[in-house]
Amino acid sequence: MRDDTKAVHAGRHPESFEGAVNPPVFHASTILAGSLAEWERKKADRAMDAPGTYYGRLGTPTTRALEEALSTLEGGHRTVLLPSGLAACGVALLAFAEPGAHVLVPDSVYGPTRIFATRFLKRFGVEATFYDPLVAAGIAELLRPNTKVIYLESPGSLTFEVQDVRAVCEIARRRGMVTMMDNTWATPLYFKPLAHGVDLSIQAATKYVVGHSDAMLGVVTVTKEAWPKLRSAYFELGQCAAPDDVYLAQRGLRTMAVRLKRHWQTGVRLAEWIAAQPEVERVLHPALPGDPGHGLWKRDFAGASGLFGVQLKPVQRTAFAAFVDGLELFGLGAS
Ligand SMILES: Cc1ncc(COP(=O)(O)O)c(C=O)c1O
Repeated sequence: MRDDTKAVHAGRHPESFEGAVNPPVFHASTILAGSLAEWERKKADRAMDAPGTYYGRLGTPTTRALEEALSTLEGGHRTVLLPSGLAACGVALLAFAEPGAHVLVPDSVYGPTRIFATRFLKRFGVEATFYDPLVAAGIAELLRPNTKVIYLESPGSLTFEVQDVRAVCEIARRRGMVTMMDNTWATPLYFKPLAHGVDLSIQAATKYVVGHSDAMLGVVTVTKEAWPKLRSAYFELGQCAAPDDVYLAQRGLRTMAVRLKRHWQTGVRLAEWIAAQPEVERVLHPALPGDPGHGLWKRDFAGASGLFGVQLKPVQRTAFAAFVDGLELFGLGAS
């Protein structure tokens, strides 16, 4: 099955819901067992990591459906859903960092992830070093005996450097380090971190999976080997996602392949037009042939989403404000 077909069908089990195409939204905290024997069986299943329902925080058929769909698209063993993309970045890091450990984070990482690493992880005795996202195999020189995690994000936030994920992961694997990658920009439709050697794939599903600016959601999909540690951090930190938001994400996923194609086309058209304007110094978009990351993008990615950067030539603030305030279709906001 092609990915766009999987995006429509994965995780659907109409036979479990009287034929309804989409799994219903389960609002649940308490989930009752009919007898002591059933209660004990559910607890035993739980200990064995079976995906049944036992207590709301630990998942419902609504969450299982989206987890299954995303695991299928990412080619991963299991997926967990969190209340935001940033929660997904933080829990993934916490699952593998420990006191005295060193983690490597790209300099182009999403700002709040950087703050998480420099403030929160530091309080727990974890040291973060920020590396040049273009380092590739040169990452070997930055490793220390206590390096536990190499974090990646590609393209980088705001500056859009494309990382040589394969080169970094090969070295990490040889040296026994865990790799995790923020894959929000490409989504598993356009880049598959696990197939490139990454152990944990992270997404702010708030963006392209949800797709309609109406819910917050984070996702981490892992290999079988990385699952036990992620599972333990996820459950011990009491993470879970709200049922309506999970439903919206699942609904968004069904059209994601179609939407992303249009994002790609429109983004490139806009980027090319903007690049030709006299006020523009540089457009940062790896799908443009002149972009420094274009070669790697072409080698590794199956497409581009719609997010890119623009660097203007020096300009008066009043002129810049007039430009922004004069936009009719583009809003001023974070997404
Ligand atoms: C690359 C990237 N990672 C993570 C996040 C965080 O996601 P959320 O806003 O859902 O916490 C964002 C949000 O902008 C992002 O762009």
